[in-house]
Amino acid sequence: MYILGIESSCDDTSIAILEDDKVIINLISSQHFHSKYGGIVPELASRAHLEVISELVIDALSQSNLTMKDIDAIGVTTNPGLVGSLLVGANFAKGLSIKYGIPVVPVNHIEGHIYSGNIQNPNLDFPLISLVVSGGHTAIFKVNSYSDYELIGSTIDDAAGEAFDKIAKLIGKTYPGGPIIDKLAKSGDTKKYDFPRSLKHQKNYNFSFSGLKTSVRYFVQKEFPNGLKEEDLPDICASVQEAIVDILVYKTILASKEYNIKTIVIGGGVSANSRLREKFNEYQKEEYQIIIPDMEYCLDNAAMIGNIAFNKLNNSEISKYMNLDFVVNSNPIRA
Ligand code: KG4
Ligand code: ZN
Repeated sequence: MYILGIESSCDDTSIAILEDDKVIINLISSQHFHSKYGGIVPELASRAHLEVISELVIDALSQSNLTMKDIDAIGVTTNPGLVGSLLVGANFAKGLSIKYGIPVVPVNHIEGHIYSGNIQNPNLDFPLISLVVSGGHTAIFKVNSYSDYELIGSTIDDAAGEAFDKIAKLIGKTYPGGPIIDKLAKSGDTKKYDFPRSLKHQKNYNFSFSGLKTSVRYFVQKEFPNGLKEEDLPDICASVQEAIVDILVYKTILASKEYNIKTIVIGGGVSANSRLREKFNEYQKEEYQIIIPDMEYCLDNAAMIGNIAFNKLNNSEISKYMNLDFVVNSNPIRA
């Protein structure tokens, strides 16, 4: 079965083609122009998706030596995300469905990240613990099977990626701030400054990052009243990054210990962070199986959406997905 995956929930337009659960191609077009506005401008994001989406489908098909007539089904992200951006992908999918008479599977973006570890490890052992950490979400799930998972903790305010982005802005850097802080931190001292690890002493799997952002703001005002110089940044970035990574790893390992689950899968844009990867990989030595997908499957991508669509089609009547009544929404809870 050939599946066309479509992802347009935020600022990346992505088109993938899968043969069953095997990815043939995964194209991602990122909207870098948002950096000059300091964050994503929703109206501009949806227009930019519209400009590239059909070209990306044409490219994906030609690079796979396929045509639309070979495609058996479509999987498309319908929630959560920016509504205008989601509408572009969902309506494009509906149009293709009507023209080619093929089913469309509506897919939850977070489910895509939760199961992104399956793309390169199709025989994952369940149950597992999944940390989804991106610009919009920071959550821990206990995943029991391909179709059954439960949310066991999440951020009570900002997402970890949002903290990276807001703190980067505070020190004069552009959006997205995560990769910039990651790079600057490489030459800094992680122990130079002590920033808060909120909720560390609470015995739950929740996170809070808004206090960290505030504490960095006051710290900069107090310690650098005449403004920051470029040479001040590596130590600040290394210490901030350490605080974020420390709490992400701590709570995930806490969940894994308390549920006695040794397989951990990490997904979402922040899993690109080099220090996060390094810290989790230290647990690999201690009988944990840590699965961090390759970068192209960590960031927003359509392969993870096609992967969910394949599993849903495999486990239910295909005719169910000929119904195009589905709508998009920004709600992170499954519709
Ligand atoms: O999953 P994603 O592409 O989009 C959603 O938010 O759904 O994640 C984007 C987020 C941004 O906040 C960005 O700053 C962060 O991932 N990010 C990173 C790194 N690369 C991307 N954060 C820390 N270190 C990185 N290397
Ligand atoms: Zn995402």
